[in-house]
Amino acid sequence: MTGNDIRRSFLDYFTRQSHTVVKSSSLVPDKDPTLLFTNAGMVQFKNVFLGQERLPYSRAASSQKCLRISGKHNDLEAVGRDTYHHTFFEMLGNWSFGDYYKAEAIEWAWELLTREWGLPKDKLWATVYLDDDQAERLWAKISGLPAERIRRFGEKENFWEMGETGPCGPCSEIHLDRGPEACDRNGLPGHVCQVNGDCARYIELWNLVFIQYNRKDNRELEELPSKHVDTGMGLERITAVLQNVLSNYDIDFM
Ligand code: ALA
Repeated sequence: MTGNDIRRSFLDYFTRQSHTVVKSSSLVPDKDPTLLFTNAGMVQFKNVFLGQERLPYSRAASSQKCLRISGKHNDLEAVGRDTYHHTFFEMLGNWSFGDYYKAEAIEWAWELLTREWGLPKDKLWATVYLDDDQAERLWAKISGLPAERIRRFGEKENFWEMGETGPCGPCSEIHLDRGPEACDRNGLPGHVCQVNGDCARYIELWNLVFIQYNRKDNRELEELPSKHVDTGMGLERITAVLQNVLSNYDIDFM
């Protein structure tokens, strides 16, 4: 599959799950003084999550152009040091606005990766937020992953926030083990290849955020009136995986 085929296949899959495909919004967010640039697919839906705007649909999917060169999500330092971060990239995502929640988000992510795109189940790992027993149980039930491949992490890895303020919540990620040959820190003293480690062997493919709070100016978390889903998967990264190359810079559209 080319990168264009992969983008199409993602959007077609979520169309089949009754999602409305929306266009990528501007790289400079419209009327949002809290962000310099669009850093994730959810930015255009911020007010929907906050209950301040209603859309004529409750499920959406897109491939969003993103820039991560400032603010909370800044990948500038990683570019050129590894082969799978970019300042500018496309983020594939699906959203639920007060509609489906953790079970469907996990089920569809798993089905798309393993059945539609044929990724090997025995190379995939899932992570959940520290106290998210529900997501852990769902992963075990839906994917059949053994307990040791469903790992818990804290705020840094598994609690996603769009910026200093705004919609946020615990998240669950899917990581792929690309095998020992993908490690770029082999032999360094003390190095261990692991999920959320510091080498290129295990890479995060997809982040499923369960939005349930609004982070306010005073840093307090306010419970939102409805629960939402916000997912993000880097198109360049999943394309590298499906085209069987270790570097995003070796994919067909780079
Ligand atoms: N908004 C989430 C992210 O950017 C999906 O990782």
